[in-house]
Amino acid sequence: MDLTTTYLGHTLANPFMPGSSPLADELDVVKRLEDAGASAIVLRSLFEEQVLAEEMATHEAVSASMYTSAEAASYFPDVEDFRFGPDAYLEHLRRVKAAVQVPVFASLNGVHPEGFLRYGRLIEEAGADGLELNVYAPIISPERTGQAVEEEVVQLVRLVKQGVNIPVAVKLSPFYSSPANLSRRLEDAGADALVIFNRFYQPDIDIEGLEVSRTLALSTSSELLLRLRWLAILRGRVGIQLAVTGGVHNVEDAIKAIMAGADVVQVVSALLQRGPEYIGQLRRGVELWLEDHEYESLSQARGSMSLDRVAEPEAYERANYLKILQGYRTSLAG
Ligand SMILES: Cc1cc2nc3c(=O)[nH]c(=O)nc-3n(C[C@H](O)[C@H](O)[C@H](O)COP(=O)(O)O)c2cc1C
Repeated sequence: MDLTTTYLGHTLANPFMPGSSPLADELDVVKRLEDAGASAIVLRSLFEEQVLAEEMATHEAVSASMYTSAEAASYFPDVEDFRFGPDAYLEHLRRVKAAVQVPVFASLNGVHPEGFLRYGRLIEEAGADGLELNVYAPIISPERTGQAVEEEVVQLVRLVKQGVNIPVAVKLSPFYSSPANLSRRLEDAGADALVIFNRFYQPDIDIEGLEVSRTLALSTSSELLLRLRWLAILRGRVGIQLAVTGGVHNVEDAIKAIMAGADVVQVVSALLQRGPEYIGQLRRGVELWLEDHEYESLSQARGSMSLDRVAEPEAYERANYLKILQGYRTSLAG
């Protein structure tokens, strides 16, 4: 079965890769992922806060340069709390590159365009085959318009693309009023791929301790549905490659993501729970499923359930919405 796919300038043997996370922190795990069939490796993000914290050496310096108050700086981890400082990150990237045959993609997570550009160049020099930009920034100012926020992302991508030669993917959040329009503009700005979608680790409130509690819950398959919807919408509306991240836990999830339009399937939670070898089971499972259902290749299935295949997508979306709400029957009446 031909499972090949194209992503960030590479022909990959299959669509499965670990998403940006600690999965690629240790070389032996990276090799196990490759041996199990991962077609690429994505490193965890290097955070702009890490770069600044190390450069300035003190936390106070971070507050001065990046955030306005000492209190703001105190929210952030200390230099030693980060898994890799910037130099160690680049060194780790070099070691991972030397250890595997498959492409290695690095990830940057920041706030300021200059930081993205500078480290994007260093990541390129260190040998990365591609760069994922995680553009997570909480916008809480009532003065900033959605249009301005989106324009900043577009400008950032344009800047990074002008400054580096390696392919660039943008890991987007679902919280834009018109993700399809933003995706088109990112494509025009030179982005090579979109990673759909960033997952947020939302703080909870400890009502007894009057504290904000931070927990990291791994995903479940239910999170895939939001991704499926937007993959299906974007496929055909933008020419850019699409990676799914969030909620892929089993073979059926992966098939759905591919049918919706994913070129690449990134997996994190399921691999953290079941171990790196599970990526091989997903790959084999998809292969068997396609054979059983008489597909000739993965590309035959890709996008087969996208909105692109529907005559009037907006009417279709609206009709589905109405049918679902109107079709619900309660059993509450006596
Ligand atoms: C422990 C952990 C660390 C992560 N670190 C990063 C990171 O550094 N950069 C990033 O873009 N995403 C990071 N993610 C998000 C994952 O790449 C992925 O998008 C998310 O977990 C959803 O995929 P999943 O449902 O397969 O877990 C992290 C996720 C986990 C669980």
